[in-house]
Amino acid sequence: MSEIKSSDTSAPFAQVETPLLAIALAQGSALPASLTELDRAAGGVVSRAIKTGDFKGKRDETALLYPGSAKPERLLLVGMGKAGDITRNTIRRAGAVAAKRALGAKQLAFAVAAEARNGVSARDLGQVVVEGAAQGAWTFTEMKAALPPEDVKPEVEGLTIVADAKEVKEVATGRRVGDAIAAGHRLTRYLQMLPGNVCTPSFLADRAKQLADQYGFSLTVLDRAQLQREGMGALLAVAQGSTQEPRFIVLEYRGGGDAAPVVLVGKGVTFDSGGISIKPAQNMEDMKFDMSGAAAVLGTFEVLGRLKPKLNVVGIIPSTENLPSGTAVKPGDVVKSHLGKTIEIINTDAEGRLILCDALSYLRRYKPAAVIDIATLTGAVVVALGAHAIGAMGTDEALLAEVRDAGERSGERCWPLPLWDDYRDMLKSDTADVKNSGGRGAGSITGGWFLKEFVEGYPWVHLDIAGTAYTESEAPHQTKGPTGVGVRLFSELILKRAGA
Ligand code: BES
Ligand code: MN
Ligand code: ZN
Repeated sequence: MSEIKSSDTSAPFAQVETPLLAIALAQGSALPASLTELDRAAGGVVSRAIKTGDFKGKRDETALLYPGSAKPERLLLVGMGKAGDITRNTIRRAGAVAAKRALGAKQLAFAVAAEARNGVSARDLGQVVVEGAAQGAWTFTEMKAALPPEDVKPEVEGLTIVADAKEVKEVATGRRVGDAIAAGHRLTRYLQMLPGNVCTPSFLADRAKQLADQYGFSLTVLDRAQLQREGMGALLAVAQGSTQEPRFIVLEYRGGGDAAPVVLVGKGVTFDSGGISIKPAQNMEDMKFDMSGAAAVLGTFEVLGRLKPKLNVVGIIPSTENLPSGTAVKPGDVVKSHLGKTIEIINTDAEGRLILCDALSYLRRYKPAAVIDIATLTGAVVVALGAHAIGAMGTDEALLAEVRDAGERSGERCWPLPLWDDYRDMLKSDTADVKNSGGRGAGSITGGWFLKEFVEGYPWVHLDIAGTAYTESEAPHQTKGPTGVGVRLFSELILKRAGA
C-alpha cells in the first residue's frame, strides 16, 4: 500500500468537508461540551448515541452516525476508555481503529475531543494520530494476482487532523515526525510480510542498497567468501545448510559528526525451519517472520533518511536462511565465532544467537555509544510475556531504562528479564567454550546470556520480539500478521538522543 498524505484543519467539526470524520472520545454518559455545536448541526445524533448508551466510549468501541446537515458525510465515534488513563498510546490506537474501520473512505478526518486529551500535547497528537492511521489502514495485497472484487477496499489516501487554530502549527510539527515513522513502519511490515522465497538475504541487501542510494547512507555488504575471511564461523555455520548466500549488511547514517554511534543489530533469518533440529510443520510458515528484527532496522533507516536527526547510527543485519540439508550444521558440531570463542551447537534451531554473536563482536570497530539488538529469538518469550511486551535484557541499567522509556512512549513496551550469573551455568559445554542452547528452563534468559558472552566494551541491550513481531489474530487496531515492532521504539530513542 502507499503512503497516506497527512494534513490539518482548524475548521469547526460541523464544517469539515469529509466522507468520514472520526472523533475520539473518553468514556462517559454525557455529550462532551466540545461536541455541542456539531451535535446541534447534526440534528442531535451524537447526543442520542451517547444518551441511549449505544456508544459508551469504551476502548476500541465505535459508532457510525450520519450527521444530517453537518458537512461530514459520516461520523465515526471512537472510544478511548477512561479520560484519566488516556496517553499518546491511547490516541495512537484510536487513530488506528478509525483508519481500520474507514469503511472504504479514501479521505479520513480525525479529531480528539478536548475533554479526552488528558494533557497530551498538540505535537504528540499530530505524531501519534498519523502513526496510528498508518497502522490501522495497512494492507498487503501486493501478491494477489486476482483480488475478488468484494475484497477490493479503497485505501485511505489522506488524513486530516482537526485541531484548534492555535494548535495546528504544533500538530503539523508532530505530523512530520509521524509521517516519517509511519513510512518506516510500513517498510518494516512489508518486508516482514514478504515470503521466504522472495525476501532472501540478498533481497534484504538490495533493499538496504535502495535506502543507501536514496538517502546517502554508506553501505557494506559481505558475502559468503568475505564472511569466511572475516572469520564469522557462527553465522557461516547456520548458512551452510542453504544454497541461498548469506549476507552481512552494514548501513551507516552520519548525522552527528564524530560522535560515537548507536548501533542497531537486527536478526535477519529469512526463513527458520530449525535446520537439522527441524521444527514441527504446524505454523512453520510463520518463520518467514524470523527476519523481523532486520526489517525493524531497515524501517528505522527509512525514518533516519527522512528526519535526518543529529546523531550517528549504524545498522547491522546478519542474514541467512536456516535449512536442513546434507551440508547443514549438525547437533554436536563445534564452530569458532568471530570473537574467537568456540561454540557447541546443541540445537540447530537456536540459530538466531549464532548469527547475532558474530555481529556483536564485529561491531566493536565502531566504538559504539550503545548497542541494541532486536531479534525474534525465543519461543520462551512468548510464554513469559505473550504478545504485549518485548523481553529486554542487557549489561547497562541506564541504557535499559532509556530503551524502556522509548518503549513506553512508542507503545512498544519492554519488560526486563534478569541476566544473573547463575544462569550462565546452563550454557556450559563439555567440548567448547559455550553451548548454544541451555535446555528448557529460562529459555529467553539463556538466549540473552549467550549473546552477552560476545559483548565486549560497550553498553548493550537485547530485545526479544518473538512474541510481538507478528500476531495470529485480527484486532480492532491492527490486522493480523506483521506488527512492525521496533521501528517506533528505535525512532523515539533516536530522536530523544538527538535532542529532536
Ligand atoms: N525463530 C525462533 C524463535 C521464535 C519462536 C520466533 C516462535 C517466533 C515465534 C528461534 O530461532 C528458535 O527456534 N528458538 C528456539 C531456541 C531453542 C532451540 C533453544 C526456541 O525458542 O525454541
Ligand atoms: Mn530457530
Ligand atoms: Zn529463528
